[in-house]
Amino acid sequence: MSSEASEILRRRTFAIISHPDAGKTTLTEKLLLYGGAIHVAGAVKSNKIRKTATSDWMEIEKQRGISVATSVMGFEYEGYKINILDTPGHQDFAEDTFRTLTAVDSVIIVIDAAKGVETQTRRLMQVCRMRKTPVMVFVNKMDREGKDPFELLDEIESELGINVTPLSWPINSGQRFKGVYNIFQHTLDLYQPDKTHVTESMRYDDVNNTEIDSLIGQQDAEKLRQDLELITEVYPAFSVDDTAEYLQGDLAPVFFGSALNTFGVRELLECFVRIAPSPRPVMTEEREVHPDEEQFTGFVFKIHANMDPNHRSCIAFVKVCSGKFMRNVYYKHVRLNQNMRFSAPTAFMAQKKETVDEAYAGDIVGLPDTGNFKIGDTLTGGEVLHFKGLPSFSPEMFKYIENADPMKQKQLDKGVNQLMDEGVAQLFVNQVTGRKIIGTVGQLQFEVIQYRLEHEYNARCKWEPLQMYKACWIEKDPDSPQEAEEELRLFKTRKTQYLAYDKEGRDVFLADSAYLLQMAQNDYKHIRFHFTSEF
Ligand code: G4P
Repeated sequence: MSSEASEILRRRTFAIISHPDAGKTTLTEKLLLYGGAIHVAGAVKSNKIRKTATSDWMEIEKQRGISVATSVMGFEYEGYKINILDTPGHQDFAEDTFRTLTAVDSVIIVIDAAKGVETQTRRLMQVCRMRKTPVMVFVNKMDREGKDPFELLDEIESELGINVTPLSWPINSGQRFKGVYNIFQHTLDLYQPDKTHVTESMRYDDVNNTEIDSLIGQQDAEKLRQDLELITEVYPAFSVDDTAEYLQGDLAPVFFGSALNTFGVRELLECFVRIAPSPRPVMTEEREVHPDEEQFTGFVFKIHANMDPNHRSCIAFVKVCSGKFMRNVYYKHVRLNQNMRFSAPTAFMAQKKETVDEAYAGDIVGLPDTGNFKIGDTLTGGEVLHFKGLPSFSPEMFKYIENADPMKQKQLDKGVNQLMDEGVAQLFVNQVTGRKIIGTVGQLQFEVIQYRLEHEYNARCKWEPLQMYKACWIEKDPDSPQEAEEELRLFKTRKTQYLAYDKEGRDVFLADSAYLLQMAQNDYKHIRFHFTSEF
């Protein structure tokens, strides 16, 4: 095997996703501890924005500013190169998270044992399902009273729409939590509440071994045996040699533990490195790109603005999809049809940002940018390719954006366009009135946009309320093209006031209520209404 091929095979690029407060930051930190990337707990500066009132959003942007360092955390573990892509904790930045998910090859979902599946997790899982991303689940906070584990597994299956199989099993929870039986490795891990030390595990190929009774008590040992029997009957068996279902995103292995107490994390990590996929092939409009191709290709999935108005530079985060990226080599920026080279690309090891000479498929490189990049841009060794799969999702909130300073129209237009390219929010233009509408996931983004327009572009905007339910991308039913063509024509003439263009010039139907959308779906059966721009 060439050295390039083995570099690619040993890479594991993934994201940890969760509802805020389930323990994503804590788990990330513990994984870094195992990887030796950090040496003390508490070293990960969390970029999450929590318990912050909207009036504190300056503080929030400051936090986002420092979060460049934690955007990607690379570390080595047992010969694997692991890249964790961080996602913003605050739900108002969910769109950032959606896009980050397009750059990972697998995902670990953290669930709070007491709270079960929460809204944010449900939404993020939709994106994983769309992309058939392989998923592992870590049920966290077992040191607290939690839901019954069987109940939790049912909930995960039904709420997240994925089959599960437990690879470890908890012995009680909360005060009575005694540890987990590791089904994957046939070991018993006894719990000692300790935030710094890692518990030694004991190997038991036979759970009927009476030694277990003396360790956790007869009653709990009996219960454990019954539970394990039930698990064998109900859940599919899992072997590292047959991971097809997991790799297709149909089956999620589940681990239980307590990230805060560094318990159950090593088991998760060990299983993860063995089963999680190395970089997967990626679809472009033209063809499928394989990671082991010789030519470099990559796409921009995130742009991080520098909040300091004196340094108007950004970092564009590029996922290397194939080949090897090299410093100071010319690559084609497909959209601009220009060759560019980069003298100071950065990679991310632990929490340090370092200039790198090369990066392989699966890695993320940060390119200093002064406005050349948009989300979704492709870089290649010369070929014209356009990566697919960076969909826009219907925003949740909409407002008209108006100019508050007539002398500064140009600045406002420029600022709005650049912020949209960066992916801060989505812009729609009403097809009749030409009025600009900004769509966001949360209120915070409106405030961020207003602030940044003022401080970076010297432009002032004001917001006008707009009651809107969803933005739907419309498509003709491909099964009945003729009827669909006619219906679409009718639909467009009758609903012009509800139609807008998105930033790519695609038609979007802005439904002001769920009822109006339902009516439209009933009346126009040959038109499909989608909540994402890719279907
Ligand atoms: P997030 O990134 O998903 O938002 O969650 P984070 O890791 O920050 O964890 C949220 C809270 O849950 C933190 O407490 C954290 O210490 C706690 N936590 C994480 N894992 C466990 C666990 O296994 N058991 C218990 N009991 N708690 C856990 P906090 O008080 O909000 O923050 P902090 O002051 O401890 O940082």
